[in-house]
Amino acid sequence: MALKIKIGLLGLGTVGGGVHKLLSGRKEAIARQIGSELEIEKILVRDIAKARGLDIPPQLLTTDYREVVNHPEIDIVVELMGGIEPAYQYIRAALQNKKSVVTANKDVIADYGVRLHRLAAEYEADLCYEASVAGGIPVLRGLVQGLASDEIYKIMGIVNGTTNYIMTQMTEAGLDYQTALKQAQVLGFAEPDPTNDVEGLDAARKMAILASLAFSAGIKMETVKVKGISQVTAEDIQAVKEFGYVIKLIGVAKQENGKVEVSVEPTLLRDSHPLATVKNEFNAIYLYGHAVGQTMFYGPGAGEMPTATAVVSDIMEVARNKKLGVGGKGLWQPTAQPVMKTADEIEAKYFLRVVVKDEIGVLNKITEVFSGHQISIENILQKLEKNQNQANIILVTHRLIQSNFEQALLELQKIPGLVDIRSCYKVED
Ligand SMILES: NC(=O)c1ccc[n+]([C@@H]2O[C@H](COP(=O)([O-])OP(=O)(O)OC[C@H]3O[C@@H](n4cnc5c(N)ncnc54)[C@H](OP(=O)(O)O)[C@@H]3O)[C@@H](O)[C@H]2O)c1
Repeated sequence: MALKIKIGLLGLGTVGGGVHKLLSGRKEAIARQIGSELEIEKILVRDIAKARGLDIPPQLLTTDYREVVNHPEIDIVVELMGGIEPAYQYIRAALQNKKSVVTANKDVIADYGVRLHRLAAEYEADLCYEASVAGGIPVLRGLVQGLASDEIYKIMGIVNGTTNYIMTQMTEAGLDYQTALKQAQVLGFAEPDPTNDVEGLDAARKMAILASLAFSAGIKMETVKVKGISQVTAEDIQAVKEFGYVIKLIGVAKQENGKVEVSVEPTLLRDSHPLATVKNEFNAIYLYGHAVGQTMFYGPGAGEMPTATAVVSDIMEVARNKKLGVGGKGLWQPTAQPVMKTADEIEAKYFLRVVVKDEIGVLNKITEVFSGHQISIENILQKLEKNQNQANIILVTHRLIQSNFEQALLELQKIPGLVDIRSCYKVED
């Protein structure tokens, strides 16, 4: 008879509901694949009386988490509540009871992933979180298993669907930021309070998780440089088009000579770059490896069923491990404290848009400031602003040292003919 593996769910909302549907709808197929039957034994919710549109015997539901994490027959605890507390404490309690944990919680994993991996190893339990980054895209497994033989040295990711939707609408439909955001909220792609998404925090957590796995180092959120999209204007979108670029919120993680940099910021990409073709709420992760070259993972980054596929695949991996007798023998541990690059070590190209008085010599002064900081210009364009005796100067630099650029920006502000530095974006060619 097939081994029965019992599951406890913490949370039965969007993703939890999807997991329930997938586990019941594909019950036989899953059992055939893993040689074990998966059965939901107990489910933690906040409100037992809530209508959920799911066929669930009422005795499965509880509001007491201990009935899940202490349940003697439950093998796998699946955390789908969201937020850091109490989810983190419940995950800890489950691991300390030697139960393997599957979670979709990027907040908990970004902040406590290293600690939880150590706890899981101590209590011989598995810890899986494929759904925490780019929902329906199996990128963590792709990174850790599919590309295990290679050294991944750079990751570029569109890992937040809300901001990608907004940037796509600004670029293609010519909407301004506020209108695109409202449209995203109406369609359910943005929360009523969109701060976490539009200010880049959600993407930063996902990049920290990706970089930690790719570079075997526990990357802390506070070391990720984060800038959101709320300051991107319709004029910027038009200006970058002049040079054949689009603006997207891009997460970048790089490792060079043993040093790491991780950032999330509005970034210019060539309009022919594969990531520039990733539109609306879709996500993609572009990986650079010494052996594989460049490879891209693409798909839905969220949603009930896409996210549920990642969660259920994790559950199946844990079940398989248990059947093979290798449960809790996960080998991944961060091997080293990451050494983060300083601004003197980070190299990048930048796009700059400044407004100047239409006077002789201002452009010269700008180029003088740049050359004083070893910055050379790859492309420059000057456009007169009608009736205002002002000009827009837009330029793209060659690769430069970030600290030099920061100094140059401070000096530019002192040029008498300079009216305003309107925008400044990193460029990834
Ligand atoms: N939604 C997505 O597309 C998506 C994509 C990728 C990752 N994720 C991640 O998946 C996780 C779940 O997201 P979701 O969208 O499914 O959330 P959700 O719809 O808000 O569901 C949360 C569930 O957890 C329960 N819950 C929350 N706090 C609780 C508490 N203190 N005690 C008991 N039960 C509690 C809720 O109970 P009630 O039902 O009784 O209120 C609800 O069933 C989050 O970590 C999220 O970041 C979501």
